[in-house]
Amino acid sequence: MPDTNTQERQAGSPADSRTPVLSVIVPCYNERPNVVPMIEKLDAALAGIAWEVIYVDDNSPDGTAAEVRRIARHDPRVRCIRRIGRRGLASAVIEGALSSSADYVAVIDGDLQHDESRLPTMLAALQGGGYDITVASRHVDGGDNSGLSSKFRHILSDGGIRLAQAFLPVRLTDPMSGFFMLPRPLFEDLARGLNGQGFKILLDLMLSSTAPLRVLEVPARFRERAAGESKMDALVMIQFGGLLLDKVFGGLLPLRFFSFALVGALGVVVHLLILALVRQTTNWGFEADQTIATIVAMVFNFQLNNAITYRDQRLKGPALWRGLILFMVVCGFGAVANIGIAQVLYERHTAWTVAGGIGAMIGVVWNYAVSATLVWRAR
Ligand code: GDD
Ligand code: MN
Repeated sequence: MPDTNTQERQAGSPADSRTPVLSVIVPCYNERPNVVPMIEKLDAALAGIAWEVIYVDDNSPDGTAAEVRRIARHDPRVRCIRRIGRRGLASAVIEGALSSSADYVAVIDGDLQHDESRLPTMLAALQGGGYDITVASRHVDGGDNSGLSSKFRHILSDGGIRLAQAFLPVRLTDPMSGFFMLPRPLFEDLARGLNGQGFKILLDLMLSSTAPLRVLEVPARFRERAAGESKMDALVMIQFGGLLLDKVFGGLLPLRFFSFALVGALGVVVHLLILALVRQTTNWGFEADQTIATIVAMVFNFQLNNAITYRDQRLKGPALWRGLILFMVVCGFGAVANIGIAQVLYERHTAWTVAGGIGAMIGVVWNYAVSATLVWRAR
């Protein structure tokens, strides 16, 4: 019988000094010049703590992953997850955190904007047992938000915070913070309920917990970005709206459905604009005009869904063309169903508004369900 000591050592006993207590998860995209300074800063900040850093890179064209691996080859505390064909801060964080076996996971940006010297304080607070999560806040005494790149970003950030607070069961001065720490088992418990889209993983975690989490906010500076550029854009903001909607509806309807329906509504506007334009500039007759407007609106909807609704599995190259054709066929059937059902209802003396509305709803649901399985089927 092997002695238990050997067995334990093989299994990696918790007392092993190499076992990290803290995994620092760093989502990164095009952060190559920031990798070395970031690891140096972590090393300095976390002296005396068994830590590791897990970079989650979405195959950045600047070679961020190669840079991380170069260091990982001689520093076992450094790991790299390289994802291909996917993009997204929140989903990168989830993947990184789920790859950890440490007691605690921290999430921090890879562009040096967050103040890593706050990490030991955050860890000590959690180890004390009184809190479920610690959040570095720019909006408690001693915090500082000056690193936001523009006045516009300040307005956006403040507006987003107000909006988020309206949904939160606990008071958080900085629900948009991307710098926080929690016990790894708690993250694992919450992971199933996470939405995973967009930037706001902290908000997602807070809203996914059935019991309100006990939060400690520690003040932190938000530094200016030294190298590279921010990836925050209009799509990220749309995803933020989607995240809140998704949480409000308690996951009754998938977030993608809202996005798909919203894109569809925009498509109607585009359709009408094109129809008006073609009618004014040609005299091909209504049928031809309507056909042209329909095709333009379909291409518009396809492109927008491909860019937003299915951002994480965006079709490119030949798959894009195949997807477009399939999408047009699917939506063609959707339109037939829509018109047919509305017609039947109308003939049975349903009010035209109700008949039209039900027809349109059935069309959207059909288009969504079928294009989700045929056009953007998860590969
Ligand atoms: N893997 C991966 N995939 N990482 C990403 C992606 C992505 O698609 N998009 C952004 N990142 C990484 C960046 O490389 C960076 O390390 C971090 O996520 C934050 O992205 P930034 O683009 O620098 O965000 P920011 O500075 O505009 O936003 C910061 O402030 C927000 C509050 O105003 C971040 O700290 C956010 O987390 C925070 O919510
Ligand atoms: Mn940044």
